[in-house]
Amino acid sequence: MSSSILEFAERCARQAGQLIAGQRHQLTIQFKGSAAEELVTQADIAADTLICDAIKEQFPEHQILSEELSPDNPTDVAHLWVIDPIDGTVNYAHQHSQVAISIAYFFQGQVSAAVVYNPFSDELFAAEQGQGATLNGQPIRCSDKTELKRALIATGFPYVKDELPLLMRRLNTVLANCADIRRLGSAALDICWVACGRLDGYYESVKPWDFAAAQLIATEAGARFGHTYVPDGNPQLEGDNLLISNPALFEPLRQLLLRADQLSL
Ligand code: IPD
Ligand code: CA
Ligand code: CA
Repeated sequence: MSSSILEFAERCARQAGQLIAGQRHQLTIQFKGSAAEELVTQADIAADTLICDAIKEQFPEHQILSEELSPDNPTDVAHLWVIDPIDGTVNYAHQHSQVAISIAYFFQGQVSAAVVYNPFSDELFAAEQGQGATLNGQPIRCSDKTELKRALIATGFPYVKDELPLLMRRLNTVLANCADIRRLGSAALDICWVACGRLDGYYESVKPWDFAAAQLIATEAGARFGHTYVPDGNPQLEGDNLLISNPALFEPLRQLLLRADQLSL
């Protein structure tokens, strides 16, 4: 069913990739959010428009949840696309290369096809439910590391900084017990990098569009996807307290994060 959907998603991601690469040197930067804390460029809007127009033309009955154009759409529908037109906007605006377009297709509440494309490294991660995950067409697997002290872990920080003490406790605990930490600036790529073994684990609280596609790429590559705490609602759309790692490290990492949270009690 979804092979043609995956091909369509790949085409959209590549077209959006070309668009954002072409616009990067003439950026119009604005700030959004309640305290104007979140950077957004004209290319975020243009890429969102390109992808959403293509979906509306090809699948007029499907619903879309996308960061810039439709962030509040209902999620409990039969056919849902979840789009982050640029994941890593701060990197994008600062000429860093860790930037991706993320496109996920959900069928009856389950993520079933996913693409995460970095136009600056020309790396395309893709997965279909039950079919494995690929990077530029080659199968990928997560790492098989078993020791926390050898594990390289990624995380990120929200634009709104009102939970910094909690985040610093988690960072402190993870850093003290693992090999090292990376803050690379794109949640979608962080998760794809767990999928292909460049990282051993990732934790963060993010929005649905940040991880909707990458979660399928990670699980199809053998990684374990979940949360530090059992979420309300559909876990595949719940971004709070995400935890993704190779299977052996999932529970040890979860225990570390829980321990960090208990330090505040
Ligand atoms: C952000 C990135 C970042 C993560 C933030 C996200 P954006 O997405 O994924 O790595 O730490 O929480 O908001 O704003 O670049 O699409
Ligand atoms: Ca994002
Ligand atoms: Ca974005």
